[in-house]
Amino acid sequence: MDKENIVGSLDIKHIGIIMDGNGRWAKKRFLPRKLGHSQGAKAFRSCLNSCVELGIPCVTFYAFSTENWSRPKEEVDSLMKLFCSFMDEMMKLNSKNIRLRFIGSRDSLPGEVRQKMEEAEAMSAENTGMWCCIAFNYGGREEIVNGAKHAAELYKSGEITLEELNEKNFSRFLYTSDLPDVDLVIRPSGEKRLSNFLIWQSAYAEFVFMDVLWPDFTERDLINALLEYGKRDRRFGGV
Ligand code: IPE
Ligand code: IPE
Ligand code: MG
Repeated sequence: MDKENIVGSLDIKHIGIIMDGNGRWAKKRFLPRKLGHSQGAKAFRSCLNSCVELGIPCVTFYAFSTENWSRPKEEVDSLMKLFCSFMDEMMKLNSKNIRLRFIGSRDSLPGEVRQKMEEAEAMSAENTGMWCCIAFNYGGREEIVNGAKHAAELYKSGEITLEELNEKNFSRFLYTSDLPDVDLVIRPSGEKRLSNFLIWQSAYAEFVFMDVLWPDFTERDLINALLEYGKRDRRFGGV
C-alpha cells in the first residue's frame, strides 16, 4: 500500500507514542545515557516528519513524565537542555504547518523551558496542519486530579451543576481538551505498560508494543504499528 494511503484507509485521529529505550540503547554501546537521549531526539525528529507525511491528524509524544524527576539530577538536567535545543530548532524551522502544544504541568519546570514552550505554541498557533503534542512533565493521574479540582471550583462558584458534569464534557478539564481520544498507543523498548501516559484519553485505544529501542525506531516501525492497528477490531463494548 502507498504511504499516503495507509492513514486514509484507517479510522485514526490520534496516536500516542511513548519514546522509551534511550538508556538501554546507550548502555548497549557503553555510552552515557545522555547520548541515548540525544539519539532519541533524532528519532523524534524523523518520526515527526513521518507522521506529517503519512497524514496523521494528531500525535502525542511522551517526552518526560512526572515520575522522571526521580532520575539522577545530571540526567534530568541533560533532558531539560536537550528539550530547549530541540525547541530552538523547531522554532527556527516552523515548517510543515505543525501546531505545537505542550501537555503536563509547567509550574515546576525551569523558566527557560516554560518560555520555550510558550514561544513555540505562540509561533505555531496560526498553523493549520497536524497537532504535535509533547507530553513534558506529564502524568495522567495528576492531569485527572487537576481536572477534578478545576471542576470542583466551577461547581463551588455555581458555574456548573453536578448534572452538567459527565464523561463527555469532563475532557474539557484535561490538557488535551478539544483533541480527539487516542486511537493507538505505540510503545517501543519492549516494556508493556502505560507508565501514566494519557490514561483517560486511551481508555479505548489499541496498544502496539514493539521490541525496538526508541533511538532505532524508523518509519517502517511506525507503518508496521499502523498496519497492526488496521487489523484490530475495535468494538467499544458493542458486538
Ligand atoms: C525514555 O528512555 C526517555 C525518557 C524517559 C525521558 P529511557 O531513559 O527511559 O530509556 P530506558 O528505559 O532506560 O532504556
Ligand atoms: C515513560 O518511560 C516516560 C517516557 C517515555 C517519557 P519510563 O522509562 O519513565 O517508564 P518506566 O519507568 O519504564 O515505567
Ligand atoms: Mg524507560
